[in-house]
Amino acid sequence: MKSLFARLWRSFCLMLANQPSLTLYFLPLLQRCWPGFLPGQYRAHVVTKQWQTADMLQLSLKVSPRWPGFVPGQHLLLTLYHNGRYISRPFSICSPLSLWQSHRHIQLCCKISSAGEFTPLLNLLNKGAVINISPAQGDFYWQQPAMPAVFVAAGSGITPIAAMLLSQRHWLAPATLHYRVRGTENAALLKELKQLATRQPLFTLQLSDSRLEPAETLQQQLCADLSNKQFYLCGPQTFMQQLRTMLSQHGVPAEHIKHEQFGFALPPAANIKSSTTEPLLSANFIRAGISTAVTLNSQHSLLQSAEQHNLAPRFGCRMGVCFQCVCDKVSGQVRDIRSGALSGHGTEQIQLCVSQPVTELVIKL
Ligand code: FES
Repeated sequence: MKSLFARLWRSFCLMLANQPSLTLYFLPLLQRCWPGFLPGQYRAHVVTKQWQTADMLQLSLKVSPRWPGFVPGQHLLLTLYHNGRYISRPFSICSPLSLWQSHRHIQLCCKISSAGEFTPLLNLLNKGAVINISPAQGDFYWQQPAMPAVFVAAGSGITPIAAMLLSQRHWLAPATLHYRVRGTENAALLKELKQLATRQPLFTLQLSDSRLEPAETLQQQLCADLSNKQFYLCGPQTFMQQLRTMLSQHGVPAEHIKHEQFGFALPPAANIKSSTTEPLLSANFIRAGISTAVTLNSQHSLLQSAEQHNLAPRFGCRMGVCFQCVCDKVSGQVRDIRSGALSGHGTEQIQLCVSQPVTELVIKL
C-alpha cells in the first residue's frame, strides 16, 4: 500500500513538475530562503571540539529533535558547504546511545588529514556552527549480545566499536576488545574504554601496540579460542582483510564475522578501468546548446562517464547527498544506484553521481 502510494506520488510529481519529487523542484527557492537546506538532511550544532589524539578531533554535536536516532555502530554523512559546493564524508558515531537519549547530543571522532580536502574544515568549525547530517546508516552493530564477542579495532576503526561497547547496558556474555594502536598516545577513546573495563567484569580491554608487537601475535591471540564467538572488525582495509581471511581459514562461519565498510563511495573517474565485458550505451550531453556524443559504460555512474569524457560536470559529495550534480535528463532511462529504482523515459531531473544508464540518453548539463 505504501509503495503504491509512493509510486502514485512520484507519477504526480513527474506530471506536475517533471521531477520525481516536489522538494527537488523547489530546491533552489528553498535554499534561497533557508541557506544550507538539503533534502533528507538534518541540522546539527557544534557544541564542543576536543582533540582525542594528535590527529583525532572529537566533535560534540547537538542534533535536531527531528533526527531519527541511531543504533550504536552506525555511521552518518556529515555535509559542509565549501568553495561553492556541498561535500560530504562518512563518520561513525562514537558516543553512547544514552547521550543522545538524554541530551540529543552525539559525538564523532574524526581523523584530521592535513592534506585532505574535507577534514581540515572540521577544525575550523566554531562552537555553534551549523552543519548538515544524514540519518544514521549501516548494519554494523552488536547483533547478539547474549553470545561471547570479540571486537578488533585499529586506528579510527575504534569509533563504531566504542559506541557499541559504551552503549551496552545489560551485559549478558563476555566481550573482549583487541585495540591495535601505535602507542597509547594515539589511542582515541582509551580513557572511556579503560573506565568501562574497570566497572564491567564481563568486558576485557587488550591493547596491541603495533610498534612493539607484530600483527601475527594478535592473530595468534585471536586463534587461541575461536569457538562459538562472534567477531566485529573495524580498521584499515588490508588489516581487516587479513583478519577475515585468517578467521575464515580457521572455520569461523561468515555470519559470525561482521566488519565495517563505509558504504557508498564511487571511485573517481581516474580510477575506473575500462572493461570490454561491460555493456556500452551512447549518450548526448548538451551544454550551452552544444551536443557531445559519448559512449557510456552501464556499470558506471553518469558522473564518472561524463568526467571520463572531460565534460567536467558540477559535483559535490559524489554520494547522492548534496544535489550539486542535479541536471536535466531530456530522454532515456536511468537506474538509481542506491535503490535500483528506474526512472521514467521522459524529461526529469536526475543526480548524475547516483544514476547509471539503462537506455540511450540525452542529458543537459
Ligand atoms: S555530487 Fe552530491 S548528489 Fe551528486
